[in-house]
Amino acid sequence: AAPLIQLNDGNKIPQLGLGVWQMPEEDAPALIKAATDAGYRHIDTAARYENEAGIGRGIRDCGIPREDLWITTKVWNDHQGYDRTLTAFDESMKKLGLEVLDLYLIHWAMPARDTYIDTWKALIELQTQGRVRSIGVSNFTPDTLTRLIDATGVVPVLNQIELHPAFQQREMRALHDRLGIKTECWSPLGQSQVLSRSELAEIGEKHGKSPAQIALRWHVQNDLIVIPKSANPERIAANIDVFDFTLDAEDMAKIATLDRADGRIGPDPATADFT
Ligand code: A2P
Repeated sequence: AAPLIQLNDGNKIPQLGLGVWQMPEEDAPALIKAATDAGYRHIDTAARYENEAGIGRGIRDCGIPREDLWITTKVWNDHQGYDRTLTAFDESMKKLGLEVLDLYLIHWAMPARDTYIDTWKALIELQTQGRVRSIGVSNFTPDTLTRLIDATGVVPVLNQIELHPAFQQREMRALHDRLGIKTECWSPLGQSQVLSRSELAEIGEKHGKSPAQIALRWHVQNDLIVIPKSANPERIAANIDVFDFTLDAEDMAKIATLDRADGRIGPDPATADFT
């Protein structure tokens, strides 16, 4: 099982969770069972992934008590704004079949629309009502993050951003550290593109681990929260099997050299605006 990381509101999140983007709804229950059997206690979904009902079934059927699981979902771009977000939250909770959510995130800031402050106020209200334990953001930039905090005085517990060995986001991590915000990483395997780097294979040979396990261990040792996604039970189990070895300083330095200025795979959060 993954260790817990304490957030700025006192709640503790399992450091490694299962990402479920592109996981078909009908496959979700079996894959969640595979994940919890392998030790996962954290699942990261989103309204946009259109699998919340399947995730909900998986949560109920996996045999793990609800209070031992950490469940994250996100409000989609179309549903930003105060009232729309409250409605979207109800819909997500109905699909998930949950009474209380562990973490609710704004999926993208979309600065040009300028609705993220009102959306954030809805998340603050949901937390006040006790319907969600922790609130945070995803794909926020330095500008949108600082404006959000200035406007409301409420600091997100984390910002979930693209981060992997080929795109290490040192500046965002430093900003998060200054603000007391944890960094959560989507596509920690660079959507598997980074896994072909020979450096990861070499380090893996030394430790008897795969390139994916080396990449994930690198996140763990950088105090990052990480949500690798896989729809394959063996790889799901392998991805959490990273807590029985340690990368040494030389390994970490070698992985640091894999960072690329143009290493981003997904949309740029400063300009991304889509439905
Ligand atoms: P699959 O679902 O067939 O396992 P990321 O989390 O960076 O977005 O990467 C997800 C991609 O990496 C998926 O295509 C997934 O494919 C693949 N993947 C996940 N875990 C592993 C692993 N341990 N080894 C190789 N590929 C993996």
